[in-house]
Amino acid sequence: MSKETKILSICGSLRAGSLNRMLANSLQELAPNGMMITESPSIGDIPIFNGDVLSADGVPPSVAALADAVAAADGVVFVTPEYNFSVPGGLKNALDWVSRIPDQPFAGKPVGIQTASPGPLGGARVQYHLRQVLVFLDAMVMNKPEVFVGLAGQRMDAGRLVDEDSRKFVSDHLAAFATYVGRYGG
Ligand SMILES: Cc1cc2nc3c(=O)[nH]c(=O)nc-3n(C[C@H](O)[C@H](O)[C@H](O)COP(=O)(O)O)c2cc1C
Repeated sequence: MSKETKILSICGSLRAGSLNRMLANSLQELAPNGMMITESPSIGDIPIFNGDVLSADGVPPSVAALADAVAAADGVVFVTPEYNFSVPGGLKNALDWVSRIPDQPFAGKPVGIQTASPGPLGGARVQYHLRQVLVFLDAMVMNKPEVFVGLAGQRMDAGRLVDEDSRKFVSDHLAAFATYVGRYGG
């Protein structure tokens, strides 16, 4: 990679002790040379979507900040838990707001998905629901490889992903994503 590739990470959990945030916080050290990963503005500041608010006041500043960060990035990596086999409400709410922006920042944007869960499946099911939402947004979601960090509580230490096998999966995912962004990114 000759130029720096700017990747935005969006964490689907608001929890201070979030396993997914620990995973997100481990991405930079596992990224290939030339990939710079920054965290998105918090989705926790985004109000619950209300079409009346949109009609009266337009897009809230917290949504505009997220959309601008997506637009400025070469690619986006979601790192999210699975809630009830699907997308956490806060993340879905953020995407519902961003979907209303006419100059759609996700359109044609390369996207990767990583999930972590204390359960054995590592949030496998949310990945397909999130993909479905991103179809409407016209994002370019990388199909493979996939990253599911199962039993995640046992694979983190001091706020970082420490399990060697998992670190290899994540680093391979980011290397593949760098290639994907190079091939399909704008
Ligand atoms: C409302 C809710 C629903 C959940 N549903 C699932 C689920 O469907 N699958 C799963 O693996 N874990 C589920 N969990 C457990 C989460 O994976 C676990 O709380 C995880 O630590 C949340 O991610 P975080 O640590 O990044 O906040 C659920 C947790 C909550 C609070």
